[in-house]
Amino acid sequence: MSNTADTNQGAGRLAGKIVLVTGASRGVGLCNAKLMAAEGAHVIMTDINADTGSKAAAEIGGNTQFYKQDVSSEQDWAELVAKIDAEHGRLDVLVNNAAILQFGEINNESLEGWRRIQSVNADGVFLGIHHCLPLMEKSGGGSIVNMSSSAAVFGMPYFVAYSASKAAVRGITKAVAVHCHRHQNGVRCNSIHPDGIATDMPMEVAGDMPELDSNKALQAMSYTCMPDDIAKIVLFLASDDSVGMNGAALNADKSATITPPYL
Ligand SMILES: NC(=O)c1ccc[n+]([C@@H]2O[C@H](COP(=O)([O-])OP(=O)(O)OC[C@H]3O[C@@H](n4cnc5c(N)ncnc54)[C@H](O)[C@@H]3O)[C@@H](O)[C@H]2O)c1
Repeated sequence: MSNTADTNQGAGRLAGKIVLVTGASRGVGLCNAKLMAAEGAHVIMTDINADTGSKAAAEIGGNTQFYKQDVSSEQDWAELVAKIDAEHGRLDVLVNNAAILQFGEINNESLEGWRRIQSVNADGVFLGIHHCLPLMEKSGGGSIVNMSSSAAVFGMPYFVAYSASKAAVRGITKAVAVHCHRHQNGVRCNSIHPDGIATDMPMEVAGDMPELDSNKALQAMSYTCMPDDIAKIVLFLASDDSVGMNGAALNADKSATITPPYL
């Protein structure tokens, strides 16, 4: 089945597509929205932070709209998808980007803290796919892009709950990819695994972490990607250029996860 929008008009790699980006008020999500709008998509931006989100959408202009949404709320997902269906009648791309990060080791993370992280990072992705997939199938197919992390690959002792949540994203991506293949519904589902990205997210918890020695800090900096670097990969996975990819877990970490410790 084709995943090309039948409303295809104008230029750009996402021309005519209806795209939903969660957590789009700032950081990578905001970069995704800007780039995708510039590539011809109609971008529906959502975030729990309505003030910055609506201002960001207004700044991007024309083919964007903003809705307040808590990705951990099933009611918010059901209402959002109903609105998209009523207004556009289709959905071509879902970018599950919203997430939260908190410092916590296995010996001091609380059950409440663990559940808080899973509710946004893992439940949010499950609910997003669960509610959007029927509309994407009705649209003739599409692309689901899930933001995971190198935390799903590395052992990261300072972020035990976050690491588990991002491993859940990696797992659900593969289960959904095979489901879509088996049902030949034209939907593809892939995950991205960045290491450090220069956004507010890691900066806001940096003070909670034990100090890295200067060599390790330098090494970490050398692996840090810019949000635009990641947005370009999201664009590729969202577009028909990646039609041959389904169930992939793309490392986007400047080789951080494959570099031997002696190098
Ligand atoms: N920044 C990094 O170093 C890094 C590394 C690997 C992966 N990632 C992943 O990339 C994605 C984007 O990260 P970022 O650095 O841009 O983060 P960010 O904190 O800058 O942006 C996340 C956005 O999600 C929103 N959000 C938080 N909880 C929400 C909820 N319940 N419902 C809806 N929106 C909510 C926030 O308001 C914010 O606008 C995330 O999935 C993150 O886990 C980030």
